[in-house]
Formats: sequence, structure tokens, C-alpha cells
Amino acid sequence: MTDLLSKFDPLIQQRDDLLSSGLTDPFALVMEKVESPTVAICNGRRTILLGTYNYMGMTFDPDVVAAGKQALDEFGSGTTGSRVLNGTYVGHKAVEEALKDFYAMDHAMVFSTGYQANLGIISTIAGKEDYIILDIDSHASIYDGCALGNAQIVPFRHNDIEALEKRLKRLPPEAGKLVILEGVYSMLGDVAPLKEMVAVCKAAGAMVLVDEAHSMGFIGERGRGVAEAQGVIDDVDFIIGTFSKSVGTVGGFCVSNHPKFEILRLVCRPYVFTASLPPSVVATAATSIRKLMDSADKRAHLWENSKRLHAGLRQLGFKLGTDEPQSAIIAVLMPDLETGAAMWEALLDEGLYVNLARPPATPAGMTLLRCSLCALHTNEQVGEILGMFAAAGRATGCIS
Ligand SMILES: Cc1ncc(COP(=O)(O)O)c(C=O)c1O
Repeated sequence: MTDLLSKFDPLIQQRDDLLSSGLTDPFALVMEKVESPTVAICNGRRTILLGTYNYMGMTFDPDVVAAGKQALDEFGSGTTGSRVLNGTYVGHKAVEEALKDFYAMDHAMVFSTGYQANLGIISTIAGKEDYIILDIDSHASIYDGCALGNAQIVPFRHNDIEALEKRLKRLPPEAGKLVILEGVYSMLGDVAPLKEMVAVCKAAGAMVLVDEAHSMGFIGERGRGVAEAQGVIDDVDFIIGTFSKSVGTVGGFCVSNHPKFEILRLVCRPYVFTASLPPSVVATAATSIRKLMDSADKRAHLWENSKRLHAGLRQLGFKLGTDEPQSAIIAVLMPDLETGAAMWEALLDEGLYVNLARPPATPAGMTLLRCSLCALHTNEQVGEILGMFAAAGRATGCIS
């Protein structure tokens, strides 16, 4: 018998080598207690959270928590059904209304996760004769959406406007074309030049889908994302998003002004053939989304946090993913996986949690310590975070 898992032997070996050096497994941390969006207890000690994507700190918002509790009491723990059968409750309609209001768009379709939203929308709208043109650094859920469908895939270099234009020009003019972009790329925290790219797409007759997972709630005057900030939201055909970051719960969605959008509810398999979100989840999401519409002060504070952390880390001597802070993600570049894991553990010992990211999830084989800031990190916490980076960086030899 061929052991089907033997293909993972190199990865098992790499992991064993790392752990045999005495390092804590960076991918098996347990949050023993979560006290707030910015503090948890890990390994028995108070730990500042700087790797949760909880950008707007909505997870403990009293109105959000109360809405979830009320829905749990009134509608029970789950729907046990697909959205197209018994799984559409008033709460599912209410969260879709909240999304339509938030984005000022005609249609909103809620999925059980953002991953499924990409899987479903991409595989359904781009068919056999069509082309998908996508940034090479796209999220795994975008690639998986492409793999589930039958369209021809044409990747282009990350954030390269000319490369996108060249690819589009080579395609048959009459063919259906979907260009997939992200507002903020989650590995390095850099933003797409959407204004220029959307113009190139429109000139080539391509439809545009933008995944705003890491920008919703924070970027743009009303938190609608990078497409809003760069003034092209009305030219984007589909926006994909998630409830698992700024919204502070779980779920995914697509919003659009396309007049035929509603038909997707009947033909999109990852929407039809799975159970809908629990009533408590959609209630928390709807409450959170409505509060995010009116969160300009929090957005301003989050920008301050991002700028301060970026400048402070640079001053300490760390190499960062972007020259300027472009989002609430700040990626600290590590020379290799071993140093990255050692730095990750040293930070945890100091009382700070960040994300360790390594290939193949990262671009160009990089090892990164990804920091994601929250609007509820206080000035004092940002100061503490910088002190912890200084101590851990010196202890591991990352900085002098
Ligand atoms: C760009 C992007 N799209 C989609 C997703 C999937 O979101 P969810 O956690 O809701 O499945 C993520 C999550 O990390 C993401 O970063």
C-alpha cells in the first residue's frame, strides 16, 4: 500500500527539526482566556494581541454581544439548513440589508465564510470559455475558487499595472474576463493601485472583483475599503468581504450592483450546498456592520497606531514589508524560518502575540512576523509592544 501521507514527509521533517531545538510550536498556541480584543491569557500569562485581524475591536462590543445573545435565545443555536431551503431567517436578510446600506449597493449575498464567498462567486461567474486574470499574490481562497471553476487562469506580477494591461491585451477581445484584485494584501500589508488597475480593466472590457477582506471597516472615509479610498467603488463589479476581521465574527459576503446578481443564489454551489450561519452570528454581524458605518474616530486612531508602530519598528532597525504604513498590517521581515520562529517565541515570552507566516503562504519564500493592529490598542499598549520588540529583537540577534 502506498501511504498517501508520505508526500508530507519533508514538511514533517522540517517541523520536527524546528521543534527538536526546543522551540514552542508557533502554529499550536492556545488562547486560555480572551479578556478583550487586545489582551488574552496564553501559557498562563497576560499577552497583548497583535495578530488577530480584529481591526476595529468589535468582538467584545456590548451591543454586538447583546444582539448575539438575544438571537440565540429567540432563534436557537443553528439553522440546520441551506439558505435556499430552511436556512434563511430574518437575521440573514437583516445582515444582507446592513451590507447593502454599508456599501450603498443593490445586492448582498452572505456565505458561511469569506473563503466560501471567494470559492462560490469566482467558480460560478467565470465559466469554461472565460478568463480569470489575477494578481500572483492572491489569497488561497481566490486560487481555490479558480481551481473549483473551469475558467482559464492568467496570473500577473503583484501590483504591476503594466503586467495586468499586457495580459489583458493578449486575450481574445470577445472572451469573458474577470480580473481579481485585493484591496490590501495580507502578507505585506500593501495596498493595490486600484484606481489605475480598474481603469485598465474597464478599457479591456473586463469585469472586476475586489476582495476587501483586510480593508473593510478601516480604509476609506466610510470604511468601504480601498476601492472607496481610491474613488473607484462604482466601477467595481463585485466586492468580496469577510465577517472574520473588522466585523468581529465569522461569515463572508459578496456585494454588487449587477442587475442579474440574485440568480447567483440558485447556481452558486458553496452557497446552496452548505448550512447557513447560526442566527447569533448573523445578529452580531448586522449590529457590528451598522456600528462600523459610524466609526470615523476609531478609524483615525487605528491609523495613528499603524503609523506609530511602523515608525517605531523601523527606528529599532527591523526591515518591514512596506516603506510607509499602508494598512493596519505591518509585516516584519525575518532572515529565515529558524530566526523567525525564535523571534516569535521571544515575543511570546515577553507577552506579545504576532502571526508567524512562512512559505508557501508568503510571497517570494519570505518568513514574516505579521502584526495586525486594532483600533482599541491604547497608546500605552503600542509603547509596550515596541519595548517588547526591542527586547526580543536584541535577545535573538535580529537587531543590535
Ligand atoms: C484576502 C482574504 N480573502 C478571504 C479570506 C477568507 O476569510 P474567512 O476567514 O472569512 O474565510 C481571507 C482570510 O484570511 C483573506 O485574507
